[in-house]
Amino acid sequence: MTQLYSTLANIYHEMYQYVFDYDKEFEFYDTILKRHNCKKILEIGCGSGMLARRFLRNGYDYLGLDLFNEMLEIARLEVNSDKFIQCDMRNLSFQKQFDSVMITGRSISYVIENQGIIDTLKGVHESLVDNGLFVFGVFEANGIFDNFDDFEQNIEHDNKKIKRISKLKMNLTTGWTYDWFAKYSINDGDKTSEFDDVTTLRAFTKDEILLFLKLTGFTVEELIEEKKTFTIIAKKNNCV
Ligand SMILES: C[S@@+](CC[C@H](N)C(=O)[O-])C[C@H]1O[C@@H](n2cnc3c(N)ncnc32)[C@H](O)[C@@H]1O
Repeated sequence: MTQLYSTLANIYHEMYQYVFDYDKEFEFYDTILKRHNCKKILEIGCGSGMLARRFLRNGYDYLGLDLFNEMLEIARLEVNSDKFIQCDMRNLSFQKQFDSVMITGRSISYVIENQGIIDTLKGVHESLVDNGLFVFGVFEANGIFDNFDDFEQNIEHDNKKIKRISKLKMNLTTGWTYDWFAKYSINDGDKTSEFDDVTTLRAFTKDEILLFLKLTGFTVEELIEEKKTFTIIAKKNNCV
């Protein structure tokens, strides 16, 4: 598993404020949640709380969940709230509690085995009220596997310069999986530190993700296709 959410959690937090457009992301979820009249929500893979603070500020009854305590510690400080719990998304144990469950930031990519995906989706199903709403994003396998070029990101935060060089490589052990090798170089004034990180991520074909959803009791309302991602809006079937 990657170090990005444990020993490098602070670097993640500093860097991703520039990598993701959290205002735009929040607007996206907010529009869907309002359309479906969802008030009580669970965000899985909430990370360092960048969306949490927006959900809470806008009056949602919010709970954030993440695997890594290091991310949750940052979230609790940032948001000044304890509306977070540590849990693996494969082991959810809520009973019909939420109007909506979201897996944000394509966090389900870290669950690379079929059984893990099934366990996650079943847990989401049990967590939702009848007709509850499930929203999540995944990487799209064709788009990802079409282009494995290396890429470099350079971020400046306060006086810190963060450089990350990423290389992707096919892996295919448990599905449309690939390894992401990242080299971080962090210059903090006069000191430079370097870290290597590696993790395995999973992408999905459209048919695959639709089959997982059918098997776990969801009806897809909308599937939004972008170049390398899908976002899925699905409803819980009440009888499975
Ligand atoms: C790309 S980050 C996204 C974080 C946040 N949604 C954001 O947009 O900044 C992926 C998150 O998924 C979490 N994660 C990875 N595997 C997980 C698992 N099995 N259960 C719960 N969270 C997990 C990581 O700790 C990390 O915070």
